[in-house]
Amino acid sequence: MRIDVFTLFPELIEGFSRASLLGRAREAALLDLRAHDLRDGASDARRTVDDAPFGGGAGMVLMPEPLFAAVEQVTSTEGLPRPLFFLTPGGRPFDQGVARELAGLEGFSLLCGRYEGVDQRVGDHLVDGELSIGDFVLAGGEAAALVVIEAVTRLVPSVLGNEASVTEESFADGLLEYPQYTRPAEFRGWGVPEVLRSGDHAKVARWRAAQTLVRTLERRPDLVAARGGLGPEEVLLLLEQGEVEVLARHGYDVESGKSRQS
Ligand code: ADE
Repeated sequence: MRIDVFTLFPELIEGFSRASLLGRAREAALLDLRAHDLRDGASDARRTVDDAPFGGGAGMVLMPEPLFAAVEQVTSTEGLPRPLFFLTPGGRPFDQGVARELAGLEGFSLLCGRYEGVDQRVGDHLVDGELSIGDFVLAGGEAAALVVIEAVTRLVPSVLGNEASVTEESFADGLLEYPQYTRPAEFRGWGVPEVLRSGDHAKVARWRAAQTLVRTLERRPDLVAARGGLGPEEVLLLLEQGEVEVLARHGYDVESGKSRQS
């Protein structure tokens, strides 16, 4: 997987990606991450990249010229993996589905702006798309780029030691993950659910499946709604696991164990 990043702060990208999962992926040559300085596209001795906005207003706007030049330079010398995405709060919401899409590519590129502004012609004519990591405003796209890079890289085969962990984790099937416990079995008086220590794998699997549903219903009912609510077997599973209250609270008819009340 090759990922190129255009930024005013290549050292932010470099520093973060030297350690932990990204560092190991780079060392193992599973990730070819290249951070490029947008100032390399500037044409003056002071390496200017911004100017005052037409029409007036506060802040500076990144000029199209150095940004196009930086991207074109890399394209002609080392080739540039496309699509190239501009990181901006107005972009397509980045989520686990988009991460999976990007992980299926051989590479892609990211352009980090400054939120005060980037000339619109960059969005219109240089990049292939825009991504947002959430409904909040960062000072620049670097932290967003790192979010995208980490979420995508960990889905690249062989990057995680244990491949099962990406199929069992949160959002794998649009739901949150069940709670996990490790030793000690009792910590400051707080125990571990007995079923997890029973050694009965089928029972553990049913408990976990139920916990996944309960957690998602309680914390992210929007995710359950997005997949069309609970199916009849899921309602039965929760009934079997004694989760009557949760079902009732979310409008499920616990008598018939089937239909969702309106
Ligand atoms: N740049 C500034 N804010 C951002 C956000 N929320 N997502 C992506 N890029 C950004």
